[in-house]
Formats: sequence, structure tokens, C-alpha cells
Amino acid sequence: MPQIIHSIAEWRTLLAGHKAAGRRVGFVPTMGALHEGHATLFAAARRDCEVVLASVFVNPTQFDDAWDFNHYPRMLDQDCALMDRERVDLVFAPSVSEMYPNGTRYAVVERELSRELCGAHRPGHFDGVLTVVMKLLMIAGADRAYFGEKDYQQLQLVRGMCEAFFLPTEIVPCPIIREADGLAMSSRNARLSPQERALAPSFNRILRTALDAASARQELEAAGFGVDYVEDRESHRFGAVKLGNTRLIDNVAL
Ligand code: PAF
Repeated sequence: MPQIIHSIAEWRTLLAGHKAAGRRVGFVPTMGALHEGHATLFAAARRDCEVVLASVFVNPTQFDDAWDFNHYPRMLDQDCALMDRERVDLVFAPSVSEMYPNGTRYAVVERELSRELCGAHRPGHFDGVLTVVMKLLMIAGADRAYFGEKDYQQLQLVRGMCEAFFLPTEIVPCPIIREADGLAMSSRNARLSPQERALAPSFNRILRTALDAASARQELEAAGFGVDYVEDRESHRFGAVKLGNTRLIDNVAL
């Protein structure tokens, strides 16, 4: 099983040893509820680096909805079994007070892309993501950090932040992993009812096959999805939909 670390001080002591020995550290930040999509991030880190560190932290500042935060799946024991299988060495699982010793007094804010797409529907979400990723990258001191392309906007914002603040960690993108029926893997899929789960793959199918964003929206609504947005930009089609209380996002290359 991977070694679980709860404090920043503990990780810093271990990190100093790895750096002194010249070992490359690969870092995979997560909110837990791990699935095969995360497994590919761990595998990429394992391929590139001598030490693989993951974090499991359900970050309160990126939730714009208390229900969503309270119902976000938390299952560290199960997560550790998957990380063990993927040969993750260390898991950083801090408390909220360890990560936010000053509460929310300080934050990282991006004023353009973070207000579009998902940001337009989840006010403050990307400020919370960027703030916690900045903290995690500063703590991890990793050579590389791995992010999935399902959260494409998050990936672009994290890259932009690393460039803007001259952070030394290389950000490595990893492709979307899908279920056999096309549904992008996500921790939130576990919350879908059997009926919602049966409908969910149509989200990806419609994004792929609709002639344009407006027809994709119409088709999704007709199929029973609540549509936050569908937008074509930078040769990708981006979408976010709701099935009951569960919000799904996806993107496809056009
Ligand atoms: O993609 C996620 O799981 C989260 O947004 C992240 C990057 C771990 C920050 O909390």
C-alpha cells in the first residue's frame, strides 16, 4: 500500500531525501473517488518518474454548491487499493486546515478564461481550483504533474498559471479515458441513477455527431439533458450537462 502522509512538514522531509538522491518526482493531484481515468495518470507518472506522489483532497473552495461538496464521494481505503495497484508510492491526504491555514484570505484569480465555459456556470470554481493547485504544486515540489484532458479548461488554466508564476513543474496532459459506451470516466458517474447512467453515453455521441453547437444543444435537450453550454472553439466542442443532480462535462476534437 502507498504511504499516507497528512502533513506538509512530513512530505517536505521525504521530498528533501528524494531530491538529494536525484530522483524525479511525478505528482497526480486528485479529489479521490478514483477510477481508471486516474489510473492512466498514475501510470504516466510511473513511466516518467522514480517517485510517484498523489494527493487526495476534496477541495472546498472549488465547489459552488454545498450539496455537491457534501455528496462528493470520499473513499480513501478503496482509492488506496487502486493506487497500490498502480504503484503509487505516496499519498498526500491533508485536512482542510492544513491546506487553508489562513482560511480563504489568499487566492489565485484568473480573469479571462476562468469566466467562460464552466466558469460562467460555476462562479468562483476556477479560482478555487487554481488556488488549491498552486498550493499543491508548491508543496509537492514535483518535476512533473499530470492532468486529464476531460477537464480541458482546467488543464489550460493550470498551464497558464504555471507560466504566469514561473512555476518549475512541467504540466503533462493525459487523454480522456472513456467507458466502452463512450461516457467519459468521472468520479461523478457513480452518482447517476440506473436510468441516468443509461442516458449518459448520448452526451458524448451527440457532441461528436451534431452538425454544430446549436444543434447539439437541441438534441441534448430533446434527449432529456439539462444543458449548461455547448460551444465550439479551438477545434474542439465543449459541453456541460446535468442529469438530475449530477453535472457531466466532456469535450471532443472536431
Ligand atoms: O481535477 C480535479 O480532480 C481537481 O480539480 C484538482 C485538480 C485535484 C484540484 O482540486
